[in-house]
Amino acid sequence: MSEAQTIQWFPGHMTKTRRKIQASLKLVDAVAEIIDARIPVSSRNPELHKIIENKPRIILMNKCDMADPSQTARWVSCYQKEGVLAIPVDCKSGRGLNQFIPKVRELLKDRIIQWEQKGMVNRTIRVMIVGIPNVGKSSFINRMAKQNRAKVEDRPGVTRGNQWFTIGKAFDLLDTPGVLWPKFDDPNVGEKLAFTGAVKDQIVDTEQLASRLLEVLRDEYSAMLAARYKLEKYDLRPLQGYELLELIGRKRGMLASGGEIDTERASIMVLDEFRSAKLGKITLEQVNG
Ligand code: G4P
Repeated sequence: MSEAQTIQWFPGHMTKTRRKIQASLKLVDAVAEIIDARIPVSSRNPELHKIIENKPRIILMNKCDMADPSQTARWVSCYQKEGVLAIPVDCKSGRGLNQFIPKVRELLKDRIIQWEQKGMVNRTIRVMIVGIPNVGKSSFINRMAKQNRAKVEDRPGVTRGNQWFTIGKAFDLLDTPGVLWPKFDDPNVGEKLAFTGAVKDQIVDTEQLASRLLEVLRDEYSAMLAARYKLEKYDLRPLQGYELLELIGRKRGMLASGGEIDTERASIMVLDEFRSAKLGKITLEQVNG
């Protein structure tokens, strides 16, 4: 398959980003890919591994405060089997972030030994942060750089506008050069991104989206769903998404004028409650097998 064909589902911008990332790769020692722990497949750019080739890589499973901890642990060991280091983090509270620098050092330990043998003791380690929009890249950088210590710099020979941040003694981060898009024209991916709110609600039908989410929850997290909306008495299995939405709307007393169930309001509530983890810690993509 030609390159043009493989990337045809990306907007034209993807080509630009790929070039920018490749141009900046030689400035860094490793790449840290931030993903959303609730959707570890859909929140990745499927071309990234090709773009970064054999640069040492670490995965940060962010938003783990909202993801199912047992699933996050399974994903971490799945990546480990593939030889990729992954750490669960939560940039909202900062949990897990103290592991970042030590893990990168571990990832680069052979290289660090080589540098030291060449007399480069305490050589600055540089890591490029990459990730699709909304996974928490700015939150991560702000937390690591403690906001005030962020520095913006144009280094010579580098694409203008590259943003560097110092996060510790001899440790710098480079923000994603360009926008790294998800594979959002794959309907499955688009749907998962919409569930989490990474795709704006204006461009999707809210009731349809909430109905689909309810079907996924009915199959994977039925106990949590039942507990949140007090549906323990009901057999949820035969119900379609829209029927679940109506049931929830009725249970919450969401009636429109004329006594009909206000499914629009119910759908906004369901999506909000999923996105703020009020429904519980949920992972929508499981490890295969
Ligand atoms: P980006 O640079 O990759 O586009 O992502 P950004 O840091 O802007 O984060 C996107 C949203 O995700 C923000 O919420 C941010 O607060 C939230 N977020 C980031 N990391 C975490 C995390 O580990 N856990 C949780 N629960 N949320 C996280 P927002 O609604 O856009 O803004 P706000 O709520 O911060 O005002």
